Amino acid sequence: MVEAIWTVRKDNGFTEVHLIDQRLLPSREVIVSCRTHREMAEAIREMVVRGAPAIGISAAFGMALGAQELEKVTDPEEFRKKMEETERIIAATRPTAVNLFWALSRMKPLWTEVASLAPGERTATLFLEAQAIKEDDVQRNRKIGAFGQALLPDSATVLTHCNAGALATGGYGTALGVIRGAVEAGKSVKVFADETRPYLQGARLTAYELASDNIPVTLITDSMAAMVMAQGKVNAVIVGADRIAANGDTANKIGTYGLAVLAREHGIPFYVAAPFSTIDPATPTGSMIPIEERSSREVTHAGEMRMAPEGISVFNPAFDVTPARYITAIITEKGVFSPEDLSRHLGQAAEL
Ligand code: MRU
Repeated sequence: MVEAIWTVRKDNGFTEVHLIDQRLLPSREVIVSCRTHREMAEAIREMVVRGAPAIGISAAFGMALGAQELEKVTDPEEFRKKMEETERIIAATRPTAVNLFWALSRMKPLWTEVASLAPGERTATLFLEAQAIKEDDVQRNRKIGAFGQALLPDSATVLTHCNAGALATGGYGTALGVIRGAVEAGKSVKVFADETRPYLQGARLTAYELASDNIPVTLITDSMAAMVMAQGKVNAVIVGADRIAANGDTANKIGTYGLAVLAREHGIPFYVAAPFSTIDPATPTGSMIPIEERSSREVTHAGEMRMAPEGISVFNPAFDVTPARYITAIITEKGVFSPEDLSRHLGQAAEL
C-alpha cells in the first residue's frame, strides 16, 4: 500500500521524520526529511503531506521535533513557553482540518507534564505519542472500513472525490478504507475517482493508490460525475472529511457539496467516512467552519503552464461544506450514524 510514511530516523544523534512528497506523486517518489518543527509546519502548509488525519499526525510529530530542538533548555517553565510557540506555529499552517487542532490538544497535556524531565526523555515521550497517534489512526480506519463495507452490495461501483486513502491518513484510509474493507470482505468493488480540480488529489493520489492495490479505478473529470450517476453506474458516493460540525454539516474538498446534491437527485446514498478526530463538537454548524483559500496559481496553471489570462481574478476555496441533510450516513470507528444521531450522540457525550 502506498503510504504517507513518517519514518523516524536517527542521524548523528538527531531524530528526523521522513515523509513522502505527495506534491510529486505519482511521477516521482521523493522523500522529504523534517528536522525541525518549522520544517514540519512548512511540509503541512506546502502539502508535502495532506489529508485531515495525516495533517494531525504530522502536527504531533512536529511537536516532538520542537521538543528535540529544546535539548539545551532545562528550565520547565522555559520549555513550556517555547513549546507554546511551537504549537502556535504548527496551528497556523492549515485552518480547515480539525484533526490538526485535535492532535495538538492531544499532545499538549503530555508536553506540559514532561517539562521537568531530562531533555532526552521529554523528546522520546513525545515521539512515542506521535507514533501512537499514527497507529491509533490506522486502527480507527480499519474499523471504519469494517462498518462501512457492510453498506455496500456484493458488487458495487463507488464514486469518490479527492484522496481519503492511506496517503491522507495514518494508513488504510477512510473513504478508501471502506473500499478496501469491501474488497477484503470478498466484494467486487469498482471505483470512479474524480480528478478533483484544481489540485488533482483524485488523479494523482487516489488513482495511484487504488491502481497500486489492483482495485479497479476509472478516472473521470469532476464535471463527468453527473453523467455517470445519470447512467446508473454508481451505487454509492463515499468521501472523507476535514471537519464535521456538531450538526453533521461536513467540510471536505471543494466539489464535495455538488456531488452530494447530485447523489440526492439520482437517489444514490452519499456517505462520509471519518474518524471521531474529524468531528468538531465545538463548531455548531458548517457555516462556522473556517475555509482555507489557496493560491490562484493552482487554478490558473497546470504544472508550469499558464491556462488563464495574466491578471485574471481567481477564487480558490480548498473546501466546501455539505449540509447534513444531503448526507445519508457518517461512517466512523464507533459505527454508522445518521447526521441527526451523531448530533444526539455528541450532545449526550457533552452532558456526561
Ligand atoms: O487539501 P487536502 O488534500 O488536504 O484535502 C484533503 C481532503 O479534502 C480529504 O478528503 C479529507 O482530508 C479527508 S482525508 C481522510
